[in-house]
Amino acid sequence: MEASRKMAWHWHFLGFFFLSLHVFSAKAKASQCSIKGLPLVRNISELPQDDHGIRGLSHITVAGSVLHGMKEVEVWLQTFSPGSCTPIHRHSCEEVFIVLKGSGTLYLASSSHQKHPGKPQEYFIFPNSTFHIPVNDAHQVWNINEHEDLQVLVIISRPPVKMFIYDDWFMPHTAAKLRFPIFWDEQCLQVQAPPKDEL
Ligand SMILES: *[C@@H]1O[C@H](CO)[C@@H](O)[C@H](O)[C@H]1NC(C)=O
Ligand SMILES: *[C@@H]1O[C@H](CO)[C@@H](O)[C@H](O)[C@H]1NC(C)=O
Repeated sequence: MEASRKMAWHWHFLGFFFLSLHVFSAKAKASQCSIKGLPLVRNISELPQDDHGIRGLSHITVAGSVLHGMKEVEVWLQTFSPGSCTPIHRHSCEEVFIVLKGSGTLYLASSSHQKHPGKPQEYFIFPNSTFHIPVNDAHQVWNINEHEDLQVLVIISRPPVKMFIYDDWFMPHTAAKLRFPIFWDEQCLQVQAPPKDEL
């Protein structure tokens, strides 16, 4: 009798424990999907940071459309560990990069009017360099430095971004796979708006 009462208490406690966990994680999720309650001036070191399932990436949405209600621009801070890269992709928005730390290679195929991206141009990117990606040009950023992270500040127009991902540079534009919402908007963006101005 005594033992079973103990047991019952044990389960009761466990139930409470898991319930609290559940409430806690729901709360954590909610606060990541809204700017409500956040101070106007925020410490970047304390913003949520995640790899969103992409090996070697650390992504922070500094100012986002889905997260923060930005209408015209969105800003990311991304860090790529040595050897890591973005997928080959395109999007119908302007994108500006500022390299804060490290170095790497930008691959850019200015061929949105052809059938597929084709062999890209290679550009060396270095600390305090900047570059922009023309609308709809397929591109990829690689950290080819074996010893140092590559850290970039990224500004895009017309958020939320719709990303089209290629398996390789010779995949037809029309076969590129739509990724929307983008990895880091997945948790917060439930609405599926129809894609806009594709090739
Ligand atoms: C910003 O956050 C980091 C990490 O938590 C902390 O070390 C730093 O002191 C903070 N800066 C200010 C001005 O609060
Ligand atoms: C980047 O370039 C600007 C303009 O010359 C300079 O003021 C700044 O200190 C540079 N930053 C770094 C990290 O080198």
